[in-house]
Amino acid sequence: MDHKEMAAREAVKYIEDGMIVGLGSGSTASIAIKLIGEKVKGEGIDIIGIPTSRASDLLGRAVGIKIGELDDHPHVDITIDGADEVGPRLNLVKGLGGALLREKIVAAATQLELIVVDESKLVQFIGQKSPLPVEIAKFSHKTTMLRLASLGCSPVLRMIGDAPYVTDNGNYIADCRFQKIADPAAMEIKIDHIPGVVESGLFIGLTSRVIVGSPSGIRILEKQCML
Ligand code: 5RP
Repeated sequence: MDHKEMAAREAVKYIEDGMIVGLGSGSTASIAIKLIGEKVKGEGIDIIGIPTSRASDLLGRAVGIKIGELDDHPHVDITIDGADEVGPRLNLVKGLGGALLREKIVAAATQLELIVVDESKLVQFIGQKSPLPVEIAKFSHKTTMLRLASLGCSPVLRMIGDAPYVTDNGNYIADCRFQKIADPAAMEIKIDHIPGVVESGLFIGLTSRVIVGSPSGIRILEKQCML
């Protein structure tokens, strides 16, 4: 079985009747959404899904999950989401799929945040493999990117063909390549202080467990676990 699917299957076991369930974004979370749909049909459980993107909203509805709004269900029992990097203390980089803002809002409202990945996402330090996606306002985005660069990165405006990529929230994304982010919590604060920044893809202290699918089976990383 594909390692992403292994992780997603394990995560879906945590879902129980009556739960409010955050539906993550990206390829691994999409596998989980399809499996949740199978579980809803197969076991007849009654859950409400809170999507973290338009794509997960559409997919959730297509597979038969009842969809709700976070504002109507502000306490989410469990969210299953992917990640681009999983670093020490389960700090994450997210947002290569473009859904980081809604993913972070839902994660912050979630009791059990389960991150599903394959081994390729595990890193020794944040910034090792992935650029850091930062969602920024369209207005004066070049000025915002200059300010981001002053933090020691090389920001690149994400494009689709000839046009800037636009998020579900109508913003742009700057993909910021750092050599290494030694102190992710401090960097999150610095980035958030820049006018024009909507949200960064640094997820600090939001993860409960990481479920890793690997050739040797499932590994579960808890918060105290050092990679
Ligand atoms: C989207 C995300 C995704 O969770 C992240 O990009 C991982 O995606 P995949 O499972 O396809 O590797 O943060 O904004």
